[in-house]
Amino acid sequence: MKDVLSSNWPHCMLQEIYQQPEVVAKCLERYGGVGIRDWQARIGEQESEIHILACGSSRHAGLVAQYWLEQLAGIPTRVRSASEFQEAPWPLTPNTLTIAVTQSGETADTLAALRLEKVRRAQSGHIQQSSWLGITNQPGSTLTQEVDHTLLTLAGSEIGVAATKTFTAQLVVFFCLTLDLAVQRRAIIEENLSQLLVALRQVPALMQQVLEQEKTIQDLAQQLVAAEHCILLGRGVNRAIALEGALKLKETTYLHAEGYSGGEFLHGPIALLDARVPVVTIVPNDSSSEVMLATVEKAKAHGSPAIGLVSQNLAAQTTSLFDSQIILPDLDYRLSPLLMVIPLQLLAYHIAVLRGLDVDRPRNITKTLA
Ligand code: BG6
Repeated sequence: MKDVLSSNWPHCMLQEIYQQPEVVAKCLERYGGVGIRDWQARIGEQESEIHILACGSSRHAGLVAQYWLEQLAGIPTRVRSASEFQEAPWPLTPNTLTIAVTQSGETADTLAALRLEKVRRAQSGHIQQSSWLGITNQPGSTLTQEVDHTLLTLAGSEIGVAATKTFTAQLVVFFCLTLDLAVQRRAIIEENLSQLLVALRQVPALMQQVLEQEKTIQDLAQQLVAAEHCILLGRGVNRAIALEGALKLKETTYLHAEGYSGGEFLHGPIALLDARVPVVTIVPNDSSSEVMLATVEKAKAHGSPAIGLVSQNLAAQTTSLFDSQIILPDLDYRLSPLLMVIPLQLLAYHIAVLRGLDVDRPRNITKTLA
């Protein structure tokens, strides 16, 4: 096991990827119980809708959260890219919790969208029926001064421009919030809740097991180092992980990567495939695994190299299908994004290293677009 505190890391991004089990454990300690807790300050108690504003990786965390909030807590949830919000704000709804997510707490688009929403609500008379929550990694940031409540992601400072540990910390905070809301609203049965809590507490140790596969991922990076395009597929709760994996690849390797929902991919983007376009498919053990594997068959028929991120209990049946597969420990599929994202972070990291790129400071982007 690597010593995450040592300073002998070739890049901050790698160290930050390895810090994830520890960060998740910290977030669980703070937020991982269920019931009305000090941190919760009755967030979302009255509201019947949730609106999430964010950019980049934070938006992807919001998309995973949308799945959880709707499927586990039964709360209609919208997610909008904060950079699109000025042009296309959503219709105002009463009793709404608006959540702004930004690891830095300073992203200009996210703050502007939040401010616009406050003005719109004030002008419409909906202000009394709304509340404002910020999720950020920066105590004292501008975001924290403009919301009613802040949930801190406790990831410690993240130097690498590509978000890694702050992303998984955002997921954990969102998941804990979802469970709290689900319990408050009696939207979840006791048995389901206990299963999820048991699974949640296993996450840090299982993340550690995923990290132990770094060598396999490094070999895969070697195979992909010359690729110019890459497609990533996920369904349901992992659709946003396909988007996040593609963003990591774009940001750090400059490879043209696109993430799609496995279903939507068949409606057009599949035309992109040939032997030069590898397809990375996320296959947790859930009700969509069969349909995902059928999509992989189709991709292979067009000549694409097929790479799978596969749950352990499916691995025996998928070995002959995938050209390469990374096997992930079994975990309730609803929590699988927390594991599935790690091989994608490591893959982006290793391709960037093999390409001789400045992993921690990629060209053209900054950590915070303030
Ligand atoms: C972009 C960064 O500028 O901001 C992305 O390049 C990041 O990596 C995005 O995800 C959002 O940042 P934040 O701080 O609002 O979460």
